[in-house]
Amino acid sequence: MSVKLNNPLFEKLGMKYPIIQGGMAWAGTGHLAGAVSEAGGLGIIGTGYWKADKVREEIRRARQVTDKPFGVNVMLLSRHIREVFDVIIEEGVQVVATGAGDPSPFIEELHSHGILVIPVVPSVGLAKMMEKKGVDAVVAEGMESGGHIGMLTTMTLVPQVVDALNIPVIAAGGIADGRGVAAAFMLGASGVQMGTRFLASAESEVHENFKNAVVKAKDIDTLVTGELLGNRARVLKTKMSKNFVKQERIEITKPKPDADAIEELENGSLRRAVLDGDKENGAFMAGQISGMIHEIKPVAEILEDVWSQAEDLLK
Ligand SMILES: Cc1cc2nc3c(=O)[nH]c(=O)nc-3n(C[C@H](O)[C@H](O)[C@H](O)COP(=O)(O)O)c2cc1C
Repeated sequence: MSVKLNNPLFEKLGMKYPIIQGGMAWAGTGHLAGAVSEAGGLGIIGTGYWKADKVREEIRRARQVTDKPFGVNVMLLSRHIREVFDVIIEEGVQVVATGAGDPSPFIEELHSHGILVIPVVPSVGLAKMMEKKGVDAVVAEGMESGGHIGMLTTMTLVPQVVDALNIPVIAAGGIADGRGVAAAFMLGASGVQMGTRFLASAESEVHENFKNAVVKAKDIDTLVTGELLGNRARVLKTKMSKNFVKQERIEITKPKPDADAIEELENGSLRRAVLDGDKENGAFMAGQISGMIHEIKPVAEILEDVWSQAEDLLK
């Protein structure tokens, strides 16, 4: 059997490894994204609800670390989205990744500036719609992932998206070593995206408490919050996240919180985990694969180890 290791998109970006560091709000800083791109992967800055000035600052921080292409992940539901796109275009960013929301209204404009558009999709339906709208690739993300998640697992989602699309499919969710990468290629993906593995890297700027919590976590140490609010997010089990789930069940009969309250809940609690390592009030978003991550390593070592193991297996 021959395995197609070359993704034309990755060749265009001059990447050494078919590995993307997924955009992570607060955690995916310019320093981390720059380090991943410099080491031969593709780093992506996570912008969440940041204002445009902060996005520009982080893009410039990435440039201090690398001359290579990197991406910016935008949160389409943010009220600063127009200004954020202006900054991305002005700063000459090469890749835009999108999480929550529909990027369709912006695709043509981004393409006219030579910017590749790669949305994250949780289902075949959305993947097909994105292909129709002209995106350059999709990230099919399974619910093993850290952060906001859909309903399907990586194992079931990736081959179904591959069968339905003609553009490159990048697999995400539960991948942190060469076995996961090789498995993703076997499912038909032509690249992978990892988030949790890069949280526990030397260049990651998340609080030591966060890195240590990932390293210490076991296989069953994550849970899903927001199930009943229709806003599912995978986080590490803490007193706070366990209480949150309990509270959600109690409050299901009450009116849903408004958009501002949800933004503060999500944005605020992730910020408290990433910047302050606040075990009482922070949401430590991380994936199920945390249980397999035992060491904080430099990103260059992570990329080299993961890809050399994958290559051996794929041969
Ligand atoms: C702390 C954290 C924050 C994240 N924030 C975002 C985000 O803002 N936008 C997005 O599209 N994905 C986000 N993700 C998902 C990652 O980009 C990536 O797809 C996911 O982590 C892959 O699964 P893994 O954690 O099993 O490697 C986040 C993940 C984590 C762990």
